[in-house]
Amino acid sequence: MSTNRKKAFSTRSIHTGEPTDPATQAVEPSLVLSTNFVFNPDEAGFSAETLSDKTPNVYARWSTPNVRALEEKLADLEEGEDALCFASGMAAISALILGTLHSGDHLVLSDVCYAGVSELARNTLPGFGIEVTTANFSDLEAVAAAVKSNTKLLWAESPCNPILRLTDIAAVAEIAHNAGAQLGVDSTMATPVATRPLTLGADLVAHSLTKYLNGHGDALGGAIIGRKEALGKLRQGALIHFGGALSPFNAWLIRRGLHTLEVRMKAHQEKALHVASYLESHAAIKRVIYPGLASHPQYALAQRQMSNASGMLTFQTKEDGVEVARRFYRKLQDFTYAVSLGKQRSLLFYIPTEDILKSSFSLEGAALDSYKDFAGEGIFRVSIGLEDAEDLCVDLDQALRKD
Ligand SMILES: Cc1ncc(COP(=O)(O)O)c(C=O)c1O
Repeated sequence: MSTNRKKAFSTRSIHTGEPTDPATQAVEPSLVLSTNFVFNPDEAGFSAETLSDKTPNVYARWSTPNVRALEEKLADLEEGEDALCFASGMAAISALILGTLHSGDHLVLSDVCYAGVSELARNTLPGFGIEVTTANFSDLEAVAAAVKSNTKLLWAESPCNPILRLTDIAAVAEIAHNAGAQLGVDSTMATPVATRPLTLGADLVAHSLTKYLNGHGDALGGAIIGRKEALGKLRQGALIHFGGALSPFNAWLIRRGLHTLEVRMKAHQEKALHVASYLESHAAIKRVIYPGLASHPQYALAQRQMSNASGMLTFQTKEDGVEVARRFYRKLQDFTYAVSLGKQRSLLFYIPTEDILKSSFSLEGAALDSYKDFAGEGIFRVSIGLEDAEDLCVDLDQALRKD
């Protein structure tokens, strides 16, 4: 057997960035809460401008041992050169956009993406002189048509929140690179177990670590993974100076969550497929969207690009969704009526199409048709946890009943 073989994902998710602590011999890493570190004045300075690899830990907003260990693990799992952690997914994405683009630059953004990113692009970026065009990222012609001479960044999300529409990452990377722009992909819902966008040509990957990567719903965090040089610039310009650093304790928790990412994703997928198939045949259900079902409008792309269909699904009910939502809130026992995703507990909530179009996405024409094709009048967005799949089906069935 070759000892040169690349270690498998599960092995790397446990061991990368976690050597035995030489000071204590502790097997699990110690939590270092200190906000400052001794530095040799010949090796490092007191300003982030003089940051050096030799003395990475000077001040905790710049870097800490627990956060750096997590960055090494994330870079390895996403097959990137380096990673940078932030206090939340939004801190990571806003730092990436504002640290990469300048006044006069143009961003092409998926017209359906995490609402916070869409609202940032709509309400905040124009104030910084950044021009934004939205496009349906499942339509390659629409993406190409949105690119302009000053386009510097394309931002995709696959599967996209909340409708689980997919983007062909390799094809969109080609469009970006032909225009001299970079492609960033929010891969929160896929996780590196399913898709590794950097290997498909993306330049930058972002994660809300709050979701599957931590996996237990008890720590906010975010990360960007990409090339060392680009991330070095972002560390200074967008992490240290904007200040959205990840806490060591959250880094410690997220690292622990990553140990089980692969087995959790296998279980999420198996249970989500069971629930999605059950709902597809349920008399009260109008439509189910799940990338692991042959009925997903982009099933062929899902099969090609996702080696795990993840645990996210949506469904539409024949009865008015607002009424069903009230009953779900009252009657569901094994599901929790709550936002967020990617944890051990199953979660769901209702998103009326009219409401989200007003608050987060302004769509018209073909873009609106595509949204409605996936979401109808409204969807229940479901994050299938790690409970028994049959229990989850029984729970949904009893709560769908009108009694
Ligand atoms: C796809 C996606 N990206 C980014 C975010 C933002 O992450 P955070 O809540 O950690 O800031 C979320 C949050 O729901 C998300 O679903």
